Amino acid sequence: MNAERFKIRTAIEEDLGAIARVLVDTWRTTFRGRLPNEFLDSMSYSHQEDRHGRMMRRPGTSYFVAVVEPQLEVVGFANGGPSRQKVLPQAGELYAIYIRDAYHGRGIGKRLFRAVVAEHRRHEREGMFVWVLADNPNRGFYERLGGRQAAQRPITLGSATVPEIAYAWDDLRSM
Ligand SMILES: CC(C)(COP(=O)(O)OP(=O)(O)OC[C@H]1O[C@@H](n2cnc3c(N)ncnc32)[C@H](O)[C@@H]1OP(=O)(O)O)[C@@H](O)C(=O)NCCC(=O)NCCS
Repeated sequence: MNAERFKIRTAIEEDLGAIARVLVDTWRTTFRGRLPNEFLDSMSYSHQEDRHGRMMRRPGTSYFVAVVEPQLEVVGFANGGPSRQKVLPQAGELYAIYIRDAYHGRGIGKRLFRAVVAEHRRHEREGMFVWVLADNPNRGFYERLGGRQAAQRPITLGSATVPEIAYAWDDLRSM
């Protein structure tokens, strides 16, 4: 394990299958017991692959994967782009960041986060936000990276309606 190294690179279409598997598997491990089983069990790799394929092709959207070397397996991803709603003033949004459980706590999340931030800056988006389930045990990650709670909204997932919180960064130049 100690000999493993990680590379962050721009994702390509061939990564979509791995991205979908990381997302679905990580939702299940992170939210089992916190969200209805029926919702988690209904998540599908093929649906997520299609959904992320459409998102990847959207102008201004950036995708990065974390690859473990030497196996070259995708163990995490992050994506971001222009804000998808205008409720918040920040121009940029972190859409998602997911890393397989076995690879948490090794700095991969911070590197993926920074890759998305760099893309926002390249597109002259000064600020950024991310929506997080209020019950996500990993909210501390965003707090550690300087995010402040900026908004709340309900989201319906299967039979459950649960609160989501937006963390925001106003000035990405200071990151
Ligand atoms: C949240 C997640 C992306 C963090 O990635 P990671 O690679 O484990 O985090 P890093 O090792 O880069 O940690 C960066 C910093 O955040 C801190 N941190 C990471 N996870 C944390 C947590 N759950 N609570 C508090 N702090 C945390 C680390 O201690 C580290 O601090 P440091 O810079 O002082 O050393 C990862 O745990 C994950 O994918 N979780 C499951 C999916 C998920 O919840 N995604 C977010 C959906 S909105």
